[in-house]
Amino acid sequence: MTNAASGEWTPASWRSKRVRQQPPWPEPQALAGALAQIAAFPPLVTSGEISALREQLAEAARGQRFLLHGGDCAESFDGCRPGSITNQLKILLQMSLVLTHGSRKRVIRVGRFAGQYAKPRTDETETQNGVTLPSYRGDNVNRPEFSSEARRPDPALLVRGYERSALTLNFVRALVDGGFADLHHPEQWNLSWVAHSPLAVEYKRMVDAIGQGLQFMETLAGVRVHQMQRVDFYTSHECLLLDLEAAQTRQVPRKSGWWNLSTHFPWLGARTSHLEEAHVEYLCGIENPIGIKVSPATTPDDLVALCKRLDPDSVPGRLTLIHRMGAHRIAQQLPPLIDAVARTGRPVLWVCDPMHGNTETVTPTGGNSSGRPIKTRKFAHILAELEQAFEIHAAKGTVLGGVHFELTGDNVTECTGGARGLSDDDLAGAYHSAVDPRLNYEQALEMALLVARRM
Ligand code: PEP
Ligand code: CO
Repeated sequence: MTNAASGEWTPASWRSKRVRQQPPWPEPQALAGALAQIAAFPPLVTSGEISALREQLAEAARGQRFLLHGGDCAESFDGCRPGSITNQLKILLQMSLVLTHGSRKRVIRVGRFAGQYAKPRTDETETQNGVTLPSYRGDNVNRPEFSSEARRPDPALLVRGYERSALTLNFVRALVDGGFADLHHPEQWNLSWVAHSPLAVEYKRMVDAIGQGLQFMETLAGVRVHQMQRVDFYTSHECLLLDLEAAQTRQVPRKSGWWNLSTHFPWLGARTSHLEEAHVEYLCGIENPIGIKVSPATTPDDLVALCKRLDPDSVPGRLTLIHRMGAHRIAQQLPPLIDAVARTGRPVLWVCDPMHGNTETVTPTGGNSSGRPIKTRKFAHILAELEQAFEIHAAKGTVLGGVHFELTGDNVTECTGGARGLSDDDLAGAYHSAVDPRLNYEQALEMALLVARRM
């Protein structure tokens, strides 16, 4: 990258810029100690894996692959358990098979996992019953319970988060290397929900076709599908806590540049994407492919300037533009952004995040509800944004090369709608997210079937 190469950029050069969304760590020495430990730990990923992902993303930008990017809004330390991790891989794998079937393209799987422990917050504080405390900023920083003790930022949590990232990734790599085969086969999928959909017959036909396709390939090759083709998963998280990101930013023997070795694919959040500020400065200098969240607040000029700054050499695979507009705004907001980037001739990958522009706050009144407002999203709005995204890109002659979801393989009730028709009053039943609402297993699989059908 130009900045790194010119010698102006260092993993610490962001410190001279305005920086947003960093916690007010109470003890500088404790923070320095935690960062020194993390800097001395082995990395979580390798530069070779990062380069491989960048090449695959470049292929997706050319329409040759499709990106499935998904996972929790915020991972929790408590979620670092075998069942949750397996369920997360299972839903991503099953969705990817459905999307492969629909798109006839190889699907790149990137999890929002193994490090998605820090959250940007719109409000610095939260008030309940007249008491005001600092907001929860993710398990890397503080804890979600509403007490002043829990909400105090604690740098030791950064070390705990790094360890859990390593535990998660270790288990993901072990599952990928063996014992994962059954998850390929639709006979093993939980499809009881399908009967509740008016599209039941069509869903069943698609799932049967996927199963037959796998059997056909296995018969031809004489081995199980997972042995033919390694199932890769890449990791990603929002590049938010710059002290932490910088602590794992390294040089690698016999390669040029600096690499963030805590994740394959860091992304720039919508709240920190200011051109002259610290997050953009940090991301300028690393070799990883990066995602940029594009919100209704992003103007065409902003976006073009960001692209030039973060990718001065127009490297294929370097930039993924993740638009998150909302079903009611995408038709107006997206086309001018596509035009502006197209005029630059840059090889970007366009991805739709249909979650973050469709968040609503409701106060459920059903059985278990606490009477407190909670965030939710409607399945129909998520789908409507995605469908428009496909249409808008097709009309512009650009490629929608991927989708970005907040989802879980667990049976939560955080988003409404879908085949089972969850309502606001069902939300209290199993609402576990500490931040944004996720599609549950059934809703996520149904969404993949609907997207595949659309393709
Ligand atoms: C997120 O992806 O969880 C997020 C906070 O998104 P955005 O920056 O687009 O609001
Ligand atoms: Co979120």
